[in-house]
Amino acid sequence: MKRSILVTGGAGFIGSNFVLHWNEQEQGLVVNLDKLTYAGNLSNLGGATAHRFVQGDINDAPLLRDLFEAFRPACVVHFAAESHVDRSITGPGEFIRTNINGTFTLLEEAKRYWEQMREAERSAFRFLHVSTDEVYGSLSPDAPAFTETTRYAPNSPYSASKAAADHLVRAYHHTYGFPTLITNCSNNYGPLQFPEKLIPLTILNALEWKPLPVYGDGLNVRDWLFVRDHCQAIDTVLKSGQPGETYNIGGTCERTNLEVVRTICATIDELRPAPNGARRDSLITFVKDRPGHDRRYAIDSNKMLVNLGWKAKESFETGIRKTVEWYLNNPEWISSVRSGSYRDWIDSHYGQMTVSS
Ligand code: NAD
Ligand code: TYD
Repeated sequence: MKRSILVTGGAGFIGSNFVLHWNEQEQGLVVNLDKLTYAGNLSNLGGATAHRFVQGDINDAPLLRDLFEAFRPACVVHFAAESHVDRSITGPGEFIRTNINGTFTLLEEAKRYWEQMREAERSAFRFLHVSTDEVYGSLSPDAPAFTETTRYAPNSPYSASKAAADHLVRAYHHTYGFPTLITNCSNNYGPLQFPEKLIPLTILNALEWKPLPVYGDGLNVRDWLFVRDHCQAIDTVLKSGQPGETYNIGGTCERTNLEVVRTICATIDELRPAPNGARRDSLITFVKDRPGHDRRYAIDSNKMLVNLGWKAKESFETGIRKTVEWYLNNPEWISSVRSGSYRDWIDSHYGQMTVSS
């Protein structure tokens, strides 16, 4: 029988895509521990087939101990985090609590479990920590992309909390020989992403002819990766990665925010043309910049290609089309995630926007 795995944060965007990926590959039961914060949504998991959901906090050590004993997972894939940079600026406390303290508690309980395993199981056990390229800070326009040896220089409370977690994970390998893997990935997009992030927010606003908020001059660059490519990369690292190693994962797909927004507008104009021929890019509205806004991220995924044979399959154009089509086809999901607290965030963060052009 296939062993179960423990996933944290599997009701969020990437975690739920990973649960669905794992189930599609028929790789065994996924035990999914998620606190169901505003970003977690059980309806993301409607298509999951071999899945046990447990609502709980990664800071809850007794709960973690019970789960390890009850399910005896073959590995841990740790997604749970507070993940939105803008929220980390207005309220960093939860980022410290979940991303740093929570990762510490999870490491402690996973190590305790691993130490008690039988030798054959123990040598196969892995703890995979899902992290971000934002730990490396901001690149100038011509600088080479981030590699696994780029110096850490996190700039936001979010990226600083992820960097701290990465250091803890690294230390558990170095000090205790605990079999960790760290992945640092670039910006993801795709189905099931909560509409506070740039791409789903732009899609929903464009569908409803609302202003499309672009921070600053819109020329900040991100390296976009389709979420299912990320899931395949994590699967690959889990199976073939070297314990103690870090792997950078990216789409080799740098775009300015304005290019991203314009691509979305053009795709929606094509799929849902306005009767009067109006164009959605007329909705682009420049708003106040994010404090400390990183100018550019870019990932060098060469280690993933050379050592593990992974590279992204989806191009930005095909990935965006699939993403827009998914949001067009899933209005129930959209209304289920736009709760009162979501509307409160949008109102307080963006205020009353009017189209600027
Ligand atoms: P998300 O915000 O969509 O989901 C996070 C999930 O974690 C939610 O389901 C939430 O309920 C859960 N959670 C939060 N606090 C918890 C706690 N204390 N205990 C248990 N569960 C808790 O995030 P995402 O975009 O899916 O990101 C997943 C991981 O990938 C994060 O670690 C993030 O740092 C990393 N990452 C994200 C991106 C991206 O572009 N979204 C890129 C690189 C890395
Ligand atoms: P986001 O999706 O929040 O991801 P991250 O901050 O982790 O990169 O933002 C992506 C880029 O889009 C980032 O440069 C900030 C910008 N942005 C906007 O211009 N307008 C918006 O409304 C949002 C949410 C983001």
